[in-house]
Amino acid sequence: MPKTKILTLTEEFKAQDILSLDQFDTPSLIHLFSATLKIKALTQKGKVLDLLKGNIAALIFYEPSSRTFGSFSAAVKRLGGETIEFQNPAQTSSVAKGETLEDTIRTLEAYSDVIIMRHPEKGAAKKAAEAAFFVPIINAGDGIGEHPTQALLDMFTIYEKFGSLDNLTILFAGDLLNGRTVHSLLRGLALFQNITVYLLSPKSLTLSREDKTMFERRGLKLIEIHNSLDMPKNADVWYWTRVQKERFKNLKDYERVKHSFIVTTDLLKERAKKNMIIMHPLPRVGEIENAVDKDPRAIYFTSQIKNGMYLRMALLGLVLGKLK
Ligand code: NCD
Repeated sequence: MPKTKILTLTEEFKAQDILSLDQFDTPSLIHLFSATLKIKALTQKGKVLDLLKGNIAALIFYEPSSRTFGSFSAAVKRLGGETIEFQNPAQTSSVAKGETLEDTIRTLEAYSDVIIMRHPEKGAAKKAAEAAFFVPIINAGDGIGEHPTQALLDMFTIYEKFGSLDNLTILFAGDLLNGRTVHSLLRGLALFQNITVYLLSPKSLTLSREDKTMFERRGLKLIEIHNSLDMPKNADVWYWTRVQKERFKNLKDYERVKHSFIVTTDLLKERAKKNMIIMHPLPRVGEIENAVDKDPRAIYFTSQIKNGMYLRMALLGLVLGKLK
């Protein structure tokens, strides 16, 4: 039976494409977080889960990836499922012979129950979802567009730490123009109450003006700053990001801005409160000093990464109809 395409998720995730944080409402997020908490507790107790036994997930990544690829692959296997994996399909698949995205997707859906795709073009995940007749598509990053599963794991991590996503002050730093994780996370945060967001970036890498207006209309209080001296001292979360080198036409422009803002132990002393967390979707390329890793507030190599796998396990269980 062809899949039905519904672009708004309620608490029912079964057979749905996961393309954008725009599809979610607050109850659907809380539902996913509860499922993640359960999966995390069971897995940490050493329980072997077999929710996806007999299922196959196809992973096709047209852009490099360590965490998203690794954690999706691990998530499927930890649930007893199996994977078909294409990394660098432009070299390793019929894409090298000129096959279209649509035809590649039609092929993969013949072998699998869900397709997880990363692609350099904004909008490619939607294109793939329209091409797929039978199986759901999960967007693992579409160019400078969105990266919904990263935002979901980030929100789960904040929720787990503070018990809620309301009444928070969050500082985003880095490449806000091109960073897809930021674009998805802001969409998600707009579903909660009383959120203040500081946006620290070079002037050339601010959110697009359309995005800024859209997020303000959705109720986020946005404060753009361009100097670390203007950073608030009361932020609950620092969400640092890498300047997205691959999105620059001119390498010199990248070199000029790449290290505009760096987290150092001194900056933490001056600007961070005790009960806050430092997050980064990773990879970092110099924008967080290594010495910061030892600070207990730095969670990018600890809970944030682990939660990526648990959240993806829960999401796959829900989308494949194995979890309620
Ligand atoms: C991010 C991405 O690919 O958008 N990485 C990730 O999936 N954790 C962030 C980045 O590459 O800067």
